[in-house]
Amino acid sequence: MTASSHLDSADAATVWQQLHRHHANGFKGFHIRSALDARRQQNYTVSAPHMRIDMSKNLLDDAGRELLNQLAHASGVERERERMLAGETINATEKRAVLHTLLRRTPHAGTALPEVLHSTADAVFQARTSMLEYAETLRSDSSCTDVVHIGIGGSYLGPKMVTRALQHLHSTAMRLHFVSNIDGQEIHQTLQPLNPATTRFIVASKSFSTQETLANAHTARAWLQQHNCPPEHHMVAITARPQAAQAFGMRTIFPFWDWVGGRYSLWSAIGLPIAIAIGSAAFVQLLRGAEEMDSHFRQTPLAHNAPVQLALLDIWYRNLCDFHSRCTVPYHSNLNHLVPYLQQLEMESNGKHVDIGGRFVGRQTQAVVFGEVGSDSQHAFFQMLHQGTAVVPLEIIACRKAAHPHHHQHRLLLANAIAQAKALMDGKPQAQEGHSHFPGNRPSTFMLLDALTPQALGALIALYEHRTFVSGVIWRINSFDQFGVELGKTIATDINERLQSGKTDGLDPSTAALVQALYK
Ligand code: F6P
Repeated sequence: MTASSHLDSADAATVWQQLHRHHANGFKGFHIRSALDARRQQNYTVSAPHMRIDMSKNLLDDAGRELLNQLAHASGVERERERMLAGETINATEKRAVLHTLLRRTPHAGTALPEVLHSTADAVFQARTSMLEYAETLRSDSSCTDVVHIGIGGSYLGPKMVTRALQHLHSTAMRLHFVSNIDGQEIHQTLQPLNPATTRFIVASKSFSTQETLANAHTARAWLQQHNCPPEHHMVAITARPQAAQAFGMRTIFPFWDWVGGRYSLWSAIGLPIAIAIGSAAFVQLLRGAEEMDSHFRQTPLAHNAPVQLALLDIWYRNLCDFHSRCTVPYHSNLNHLVPYLQQLEMESNGKHVDIGGRFVGRQTQAVVFGEVGSDSQHAFFQMLHQGTAVVPLEIIACRKAAHPHHHQHRLLLANAIAQAKALMDGKPQAQEGHSHFPGNRPSTFMLLDALTPQALGALIALYEHRTFVSGVIWRINSFDQFGVELGKTIATDINERLQSGKTDGLDPSTAALVQALYK
C-alpha cells in the first residue's frame, strides 16, 4: 500500500505524505505517559452533546494531530458533510441521497432546511406521527402481551441495541422479542411459549425481499393461521417497498425511504419496537439527542469536532500505525448489543477496497471492530490487550450516573474502567521481562456520558454514524452501499437448490462434498 494514492486530491496527497514522514521520523519513540501532562489532558478532551471524550491516552502527538486536521480539510470533509446534509446524491453507486439526519429532525430545528427537502421532511414527520400513534395504541392495548420484531441487519441491530440499552426505562409490561436468524431454532424457541391471540409481529425490511426476514415472516404467518388468528390483524410491516408487503398480505404498513441506509434506519419507523418499549415521548428524546450531535457535527470546527476527531484517530491507527483492529468496551451491561450494531455500522459502511469511482482505493480501510461489555470482557480478551504482540486501541464508554440503587457496584464498575485505561498506558516497567512484564504505552480513549438516557444514547449513536462517514470521506469510499453482501446471498440460493436436488456439477470438490454430505 502506498503513502498516498493517485486518487487523492493534490492537497490531500501532500498531507498524506507529510503524515507518513512524521510517523516514520518525528513520532518515533512517542511515549504516552511521558507526554501526558495537564495541558495534554485538556487539549485532547473533546466535548460533545451529553459526553466528554478524553483522547489524551492515545499514541498521537501534537504534530500528528495537526496534520490529521489538515488531512480532514484537504479531503473535503466539510464539503461532503454539507452535501450530505443538503440531500445531494452522495451515495453515487446507488444514485441516492443520504438523509438519515432528516429522520431525527424535530419540526422546530434551529437550522434552516433547503427548500428541496421540505416535502421529504413533511413525509418524515407524517410517518413518524403515525408510527408513534400506533406504538401508543399498542402500549395501551391490554389484549397484547408480546411483540415479536422480525428483521435482520439494519432492520434489527439498531432497534434491538436501543431497546436493550434503555431496558431500565421500559414503561410497558409488554414483552419484546427479536428474531433475525434464518436458523428456525430461533423463531421456534421464541414462539413456543407465546399465545398467538395476544402476540403481534413487526416485519421490518427495507427491501421486503431479504431471505431471512421473509422465511421468518412466513413461519410466523403460518403459526398465526394454525391458531385461527388472522395475520392481517396480528402483523404489521415496515418497509420502503409497500407493494411487496401488500402482496404478502400486510394491511398495516409503515413507510420509510430509499435514502435511508438500513444501518442508519433506527430513527425511522424501523424504531417501532423502541417506541413500544419506552413510549413515544422518550423516543422523541432519542431523536433529539441525535439531532444535537448532528448540530455539533455541522457547526463545530474540525479540531474540536468529536466525530471528526475520532475518525482521524481511526485513520492514524489504521493507515499510519498499521493497527488492524479497534476494541470498543461499554462499561454498562445494557449496552451489550452495541458492538454488533457498530460492527455493521462501521464494517458494512467502510469495509471496502474500491473508491467511490470503483478503482482500487490504494490504502487500508476499515479496521476490525470487536468488543464486549466491561467488566466481563476483562476476563475474556483483555489479557491480549495488555500483553499480546499486537497493539489494539481500546475505546471505553462509561456513564457517570447509574440507573440502579447499587451505588457501590457502580463505583467498582467505574474503577475498573479507569484502571484498565491506566494499566494499558502505564504497563509495569519495573518487571523488565517474563510473564509479569506489561509493556504499557497501549492506547485508549475514554468516553464519559452523564447517564444512559434516550438523549445521550441518541447522541452516542449519531457520533458513531458521523465518525464512520468522515472516515469514508477521507478514504474516498462510498460508506452507504454494501455490494459485498450480495455474492454470498446469490450462491446460497444456488446451494439451497442443490441441497434439494443433490446436483454437484460445476462445484469445487470441497463445496461438492459438503452438498453431498447434507443432501437428503
Ligand atoms: O446485509 C445486507 C443488508 O442489505 C443490510 O444492509 C440490511 O440492513 C439488511 O441486509 C436487511 O435488509 P432489509 O431491511 O432490506 O431486509
